[in-house]
Amino acid sequence: MKHTDIKSIFTDPSYIGKQVTVCGWVRTSRDSKNMAFIELNDGTALKHLQIVIDKSKITEISDFMPGGTALKVVGTVVEGAVNNAVEVNAEEISVLGICPGDYPLQKKRCSLEFLRTMPHLRVRTNTFNAIFRVRSVAASAVHEFFQSRNFVYINTPLLTASDCEGAGEVFKVTTIGYSEDYKNEEEYYADDFFGKKAGLSVSGQLEGEVAAMAMGKIYTFGPSFRAEKSNTLRHVAEFWHVEPEIAFAELDDIIEIAQDMIKHIISEVMAKCPSELEFFEKFFEKGLHEKLQNIIDSDFAVLDYTEAIELLKKADVKFQYPVEWGCDLQTEHERYITEKIFNKPVFVTNYPKDIKSFYMKQNPDGKTVAATDLLVPGVGEIIGGSQREEDLTKLLKAMEERGMGTEEYADYIDLRKFGSVPHGGFGLGFERIIMYMTGVQNIRDVILYPRTVGSIR
Ligand code: 4AD
Repeated sequence: MKHTDIKSIFTDPSYIGKQVTVCGWVRTSRDSKNMAFIELNDGTALKHLQIVIDKSKITEISDFMPGGTALKVVGTVVEGAVNNAVEVNAEEISVLGICPGDYPLQKKRCSLEFLRTMPHLRVRTNTFNAIFRVRSVAASAVHEFFQSRNFVYINTPLLTASDCEGAGEVFKVTTIGYSEDYKNEEEYYADDFFGKKAGLSVSGQLEGEVAAMAMGKIYTFGPSFRAEKSNTLRHVAEFWHVEPEIAFAELDDIIEIAQDMIKHIISEVMAKCPSELEFFEKFFEKGLHEKLQNIIDSDFAVLDYTEAIELLKKADVKFQYPVEWGCDLQTEHERYITEKIFNKPVFVTNYPKDIKSFYMKQNPDGKTVAATDLLVPGVGEIIGGSQREEDLTKLLKAMEERGMGTEEYADYIDLRKFGSVPHGGFGLGFERIIMYMTGVQNIRDVILYPRTVGSIR
């Protein structure tokens, strides 16, 4: 069906005076004695295109006025009276799909909570139109950032036999149900599709390391799955994960790349989504534009975990979770550090080894690992990363201390035998940076179909 994108009509003045065909859905409509007006949206722009109807020329328009109706309009582009906005004087209108009165979005403004009950329809609202455009531009910025720096894009497997984070949050993959007939778990798994225990990947890192040991610099960008039962504003069971892995790199290099990547994503979104950001500034977070501009203009803070604990202990606040060296930082601690102390993104580094994963590079102090999490105001952790342990003996010891078998990690262990080099990487939770850039506070509202504990459709 040949037609012109509404965005092109807004951005290219050469359309003025020309006849176009546009397709879209009615957002609102107004009727008067001689004229009628339709706000049409085709998803290419946040702004709606006004269709002006001279009722003496086009009759029987009442049937296609309701919001949600799909239309094809042929008409001439003209300069409108208000704000230099262009509009289309309709010459011919065809209804492609009617939209009866039980369409739930005909109400003026619906709450995000109400919209969550209809993921298939909420995408048609201004809020989700803006979110998905920001998401798309941000995804493209991720690829541009890495491609322009000689990183190779790798697709790591989603079905896996190993648990990267070792936190027991792996979704099992099985084609048969467990039955009492099996003597034990091993016998059951042996009978299953892969002949062994398998699950959905929580992270592409381990396979990413395999690729980085050949390609030098790689990144993955795909879904990760976590069977965490945390019903919070920032956890989903299926999220999109950006994971670079870099050979010949130490913790400082990892931090620098992470900072540059975040700045690049934000700059691109600011340059390419000005009207979306204006929308979020108005309805979701006052001061959003200034916040994002500050991110681009200044360096992030870097804070050693041990110093973070000292600062938290001195804080003039009663935390729900007590702070002691060795504890994992809770959301309330992360927020205090980023919002009250620094008021900007903070890389916390060198965490105690006992609260971090087996693969992290052990520091000479014997107590900490060369890990870093990036915490941002309002959202908390958006990146988790580390330098990796490249020493075979130390890696095997860390695995043994955690009671891990070596069989599932044979490939990973081999990397330390054959030409091992200092290397590292990180994982960015893609939904979390979208939350940060838009001011949307619930992760369920920045993904098409959120999967959370007890909820899937
Ligand atoms: O800190 P995490 O668990 O680190 C890893 O998975 C490493 N293997 C990454 C690496 O070094 N290649 O997860 C990384 C990021 C978190 O900082 C968070 O932003 C996001 O992934 N994330 C989630 N996002 C939404 N819902 C969840 N349940 C998430 N779990 C982690």
